[in-house]
Amino acid sequence: MDCGGLLDPALPDRLQLRSGRAKIAVLIPFAQRAAGDCTTLAAEEVIVPRKPIVGGNWKMNTNRGSAASLASAVASAHQDDSGVEVIIFPPFPYLLEVGRAISGSAVMLGAQDVYHEADGAFTGEVSAAMLRDCGCRWVLTGHSERRHVIGEDDALVNRKTRAALEAGLSVILCIGETREQRAAGETDDVNTRQLTAGLQGVSASQSGRIAIAYEPVWAIGTGLTATPDDAQAAHAAIRATLAEIFDPSTAAAMRIQYGGSMKPGNAAGLMKMPDVDGGLIGGASLNAGDFSAIVQAAVRA
Ligand code: PGA
Repeated sequence: MDCGGLLDPALPDRLQLRSGRAKIAVLIPFAQRAAGDCTTLAAEEVIVPRKPIVGGNWKMNTNRGSAASLASAVASAHQDDSGVEVIIFPPFPYLLEVGRAISGSAVMLGAQDVYHEADGAFTGEVSAAMLRDCGCRWVLTGHSERRHVIGEDDALVNRKTRAALEAGLSVILCIGETREQRAAGETDDVNTRQLTAGLQGVSASQSGRIAIAYEPVWAIGTGLTATPDDAQAAHAAIRATLAEIFDPSTAAAMRIQYGGSMKPGNAAGLMKMPDVDGGLIGGASLNAGDFSAIVQAAVRA
């Protein structure tokens, strides 16, 4: 029987998982798939809405004045969070200033990094409690520049992720393959390894405070972007891995952002893909107009 493309034979037999354009996920028990009985599927659908999420990762850019004015411009463009969640990640020294600039808007404050210890002799590091104290609600962990430039490994990314969650922060866990790994056909293996290690010891009950950013390393800051089809393939595989780590309905509810040279010109094409639930934006987030255009593409997706 032709099930109209509903079923993907590559996904685990235990459960089939499908996402819709309206950012819904539909879970189809394997028993029905085996029976090939499409007519009974609708009765078994579990629909989970996913609100798009867009982050602006400013990296080591801006100064005190430009950070405040960029934050004010982003805040005045995003007064309403009904269709999308927007977070900006300024450098540590500007968190308080940026927090004041976005206060009263729908934009949330996030930090680019966190240390996993609560306090003590860790020169130069910043704890999750300090970030909360400065008004942060989100933090990035596992960003490719921290993995590949600073040298963080999966175990450290996991410690940071758990410490942030335990302190009450929400986390964007970043994963993605290098150019060499993609060329060797290892994209899904790398994503699975980074997800499994990064989420070790994290419970399904904490998953509502986790988003995953799929950021192919070769696309970050290079102007190269994954095609919408390539991004969708990676995101679908990531969601299947999340279903294994947690459970299918948890995976269906989790947001997976794409990152890597997302711009106003390519955002809509990427975000209309069924498993692409927003973006993590670097370079284009330094321009309020470009960032806003990307946020609007997420609202419309
Ligand atoms: P980019 O960076 O948009 O400049 O490629 C994305 C990121 O590193 O989060």
